[in-house]
Amino acid sequence: MENLLFYKRFLCPPEKDASFWQEALDYAVHKIRSNIAFFGDEYPSPASVRNVYPRVQNIEWTSSFWTGLLWLAYHSSGDELFRDAAERYLPDFRTRLDKRIATNTHDLGFLYTLSCVNAYHFTRNCSAQIMALKAADLLLIRYYEKAGIIQAWGDLNDPAQRGRIIIDCAMNLPLLYWASMQTGNPYYKEAADRHIVTANKYLIRDDWSSYHTFYFDTETGSPLKGTTAQGYSDDSCWSRGQAWGIYGNALAYWYTKEPSLLESARGLAQYFLNHLPDDLVAYWDLVFTQGDEERDSSASAIGASGLLVLSAALPVGDPQRRIFENAALHIAASLAQSYTTKAARESNGILLHGVYGKPGNNGVDECTIFGDYFYMELLLRITASWRLYW
Ligand code: GLY
Repeated sequence: MENLLFYKRFLCPPEKDASFWQEALDYAVHKIRSNIAFFGDEYPSPASVRNVYPRVQNIEWTSSFWTGLLWLAYHSSGDELFRDAAERYLPDFRTRLDKRIATNTHDLGFLYTLSCVNAYHFTRNCSAQIMALKAADLLLIRYYEKAGIIQAWGDLNDPAQRGRIIIDCAMNLPLLYWASMQTGNPYYKEAADRHIVTANKYLIRDDWSSYHTFYFDTETGSPLKGTTAQGYSDDSCWSRGQAWGIYGNALAYWYTKEPSLLESARGLAQYFLNHLPDDLVAYWDLVFTQGDEERDSSASAIGASGLLVLSAALPVGDPQRRIFENAALHIAASLAQSYTTKAARESNGILLHGVYGKPGNNGVDECTIFGDYFYMELLLRITASWRLYW
């Protein structure tokens, strides 16, 4: 087990009053409101270019972070403008599904949870519910029964991607858990359960750091090797991947109550917290804890949101319940104080200093739409009544 250096630092919450959090939230809502006309019927690109998101069609894995932001703003403000804007995108998500536009991905979970499941949650929109169930069916096609895994990327016959899982997939599983709850069909949940247990076994190392990706032989089910795609090296720990793992395992625990998932979320969280720099905003890979490498603000936003879900799942008598909650608040305070676009003159993003993919020099030191989404979710978790969202 990792040493517990972070304990002392997180015994108390940051000294921030309600107005600090409200101001941070108001700023995020203001940015979302002012982007509605700009994006029209298009979407922000995954990462900004010089802190401004260009408009893109619904072809990225990230389209739904924009609709997710609109739903969060609706939840936060009650303003129908946000609900209307989010609902206007539903036909476009139907077209994407019907025409199979860039649907060869496990990110169907992200895409249809934050668009259609959200629409169903907030408004009981039945056609959104059916669309999300169709997306869950499409996601299940990527499940290999023998290996017990969901292939992350690409065509199932692509030799470079066949049998490859990535840690991010943990966040796509809620769509499957939700589908079982809606239909009473246990198969979606069974696939999600087997995937997360297998993924944890091979993606999480003994010291609770994680591989980004892992290959399996889909014919025999045998594990092959761990590699990275967006991290520093195959044996380093990509920060956002670790954060996806914390949050995804905490969510899977909510749906399953399987104790090993809570322990995985706990171990991943401890490793994450022990590898943060002083201001608690992760470098893009946790191999770096000081120096000039770029930060990935999205990793800290995702990790902190996950810490709050993890903390709420822990028994009241567990000392880490309070520690993880305080850690999330400290991270949120650091992001709100020093990482938002309030400090940048020209930006349509919310959170500065994210990294999409450093090895490919893609969106380095930019706003990221997933960073914006999870920062907003984090602020809502801090200020509003508790909700699972996923
Ligand atoms: N899920 C892809 C990423 O985090 O970049």
